[in-house]
Amino acid sequence: MKLYRAKDYNDMSRKAANIISAQIIMKPSCVLGLATGSSPIGTYKQLIEWYNKGDLDFSQVKTANLDEYKGLTRDNDQSYYYFMRENLFRHVNIDEANTNIPNGMEPDANKEAARYEEIIKSLGGVDLQLLGLGHNGHIGFNEPSDIFPKDTHIVDLQESTIEANKRFFASIDEVPRQAYTMGIGTIMRAKKILLIVSGAEKADILYDVICGPVTSKVPASILQLHPDVTIVADEAALSKL
Ligand code: GLP
Repeated sequence: MKLYRAKDYNDMSRKAANIISAQIIMKPSCVLGLATGSSPIGTYKQLIEWYNKGDLDFSQVKTANLDEYKGLTRDNDQSYYYFMRENLFRHVNIDEANTNIPNGMEPDANKEAARYEEIIKSLGGVDLQLLGLGHNGHIGFNEPSDIFPKDTHIVDLQESTIEANKRFFASIDEVPRQAYTMGIGTIMRAKKILLIVSGAEKADILYDVICGPVTSKVPASILQLHPDVTIVADEAALSKL
């Protein structure tokens, strides 16, 4: 694992955007695995700024997002489809046909999971997977459990995740209880992984991810076994290391 220490959220975002930019410059038709949540918003802002300056071209870039809430339509402002459109896609010259997000409105979980895995395979796999870190160590929506789920699947969200994500909804009752997510296997098959972590409330879990045992109780700990992981974290998140 390569670990880059950032001063704060903005510094983390700039460093992460630099790594993503380098990927796009080296391989203009790269496949980016993308994430949602508050962690990557600054990274996307920075990429948009560089795009506006003429320094980045997304015309050949393809994307596959990690996850999507089950039961939210694309125009629901809490869906990850909406998030990606508002925070990145509509601001850059990416072709919508090249963007992929699990379909939260597909009621048949097996069908959607198989369809999404097939899409990633047909893209030739993910070149660079961006990840945030859940407070309980989840990546995508792979919650702590007894196993590392292999492929894209449906998950029941844990109470702590519902609690953490309720800030984005009008009330806790509106937070979906299930989501589609790439599996740990899907994530681990990415050629490169970029994990971004910010804030003191992630310091304990980041310590466990980097220094603790590899265990499905801390899903992100499996990243210790990936050959090309870069972590960019700010000082607050690194305060326990
Ligand atoms: C959600 C997403 C994850 C994300 C996590 C952390 O549950 N499914 O992909 O990494 O939240 O979010 P935040 O960056 O807002 O702390």
